Amino acid sequence: MIKRLLVFKGKKVLVTGHTGFKGSWLCIWLKILGAKVYGISLEPTTQTSHYKATNLKKYLEKSFIFNINNMKKLKNTIYNIKPDFVFHLAGQSIVKLSYLNPMLTWNTNLIGTINILESLRKLNKCTVIFITSDKCYKNTENLKGYLEKDYLGGDDPYSASKASAEIAIHSYYKTFFKKSNILICSVRAGNVIGGGDWSPDRIIPDFFKAYLNKKKLVIRNPNSIRPWQHVLDALHGYLILAQKLHFDKKLSGEAFNFGPKKIKNFKVKNLIKYLNNDKIVEKKLILYKKSKNFKETNILKLNVKKSQNKLNWSCILDIKKSLDMTKEWFVKYKPKKFEYNYNLSKSQILDFIKLK
Ligand SMILES: NC(=O)c1ccc[n+]([C@@H]2O[C@H](COP(=O)([O-])OP(=O)(O)OC[C@H]3O[C@@H](n4cnc5c(N)ncnc54)[C@H](O)[C@@H]3O)[C@@H](O)[C@H]2O)c1
Repeated sequence: MIKRLLVFKGKKVLVTGHTGFKGSWLCIWLKILGAKVYGISLEPTTQTSHYKATNLKKYLEKSFIFNINNMKKLKNTIYNIKPDFVFHLAGQSIVKLSYLNPMLTWNTNLIGTINILESLRKLNKCTVIFITSDKCYKNTENLKGYLEKDYLGGDDPYSASKASAEIAIHSYYKTFFKKSNILICSVRAGNVIGGGDWSPDRIIPDFFKAYLNKKKLVIRNPNSIRPWQHVLDALHGYLILAQKLHFDKKLSGEAFNFGPKKIKNFKVKNLIKYLNNDKIVEKKLILYKKSKNFKETNILKLNVKKSQNKLNWSCILDIKKSLDMTKEWFVKYKPKKFEYNYNLSKSQILDFIKLK
């Protein structure tokens, strides 16, 4: 299936959020597929970001660093590139930050998405994938898994901003794009894990920061279950969808869930136990502390039948393989060895491709 991702060869692909975790992996994969890759993002927040660690900029046609809330600049840049494909990943991605800075979250996740939609109206043709979140669903603690047709919702500013972005995407499809050659889909994935993610308040990065910096690891919700999946599994879904959508207009306007088929009772505490089976982080550095400041839903499960049936997609890596690959990346990673790190990520993508 992966070997047949031929549509991107020689095509202009714009990735917003290319300096972020998912976006930087997507850019490397698109380079492997022979695409001409452009990026629009803010500067990465850490020196150790996957983008910086791999010196990704060197491999791109052009890396634009500006705020997607700068509408004029965004419109002009997109119009000048005239991309064949857009993957919109730029977003305020941290739930906790959405409590601390709700305006930033709304501006980036909702207005930023509307700015991308507006900019697309100037193009004659483009295939676009909007990355929102599994948190866009109205939380009913649904144990069977949310379906794409379920109600949107979200209590915290992050979730609500992602649900609102979904409504904006749908509205633009119905109002402006339905009869045009701007083909759009939205994708809803759960928590992804993988090498090179250093974001704050995410359990995997926190674990590896504790390992590399010998710092304390504070675990907020040890009993939480998340639909963990490897970043390459989610990106694989986005790429398959983009290729299908490019050739099949009928998919335009649809939303797709991407997540693991079954969520075994793999709680946060089990995940830490598995990663730390060889005690790379000293036990005394791992602290369990319940957070009172903000609420997170305990269970988030997606029903992924639509992606399986319509796209022939499913996760290739189970949770243990996903954790193994993530750990391999962090253990092999070398600060400031840019080309080495780029090749490390590239080789993980090539290994992933061979698995199917
Ligand atoms: N990582 C996950 O587990 C996960 C799960 C569900 C959904 N998502 C969504 O996927 C997308 C990518 O996630 P990620 O983990 O790579 O996030 P990230 O925080 O690592 O990267 C976010 C990217 O967006 C860019 N960005 C943020 N605000 C911007 C602005 N105003 N203008 C221009 N660029 C801006 C950043 O510079 C960065 O490149 C986000 O929209 C996120 O909400 C992520």
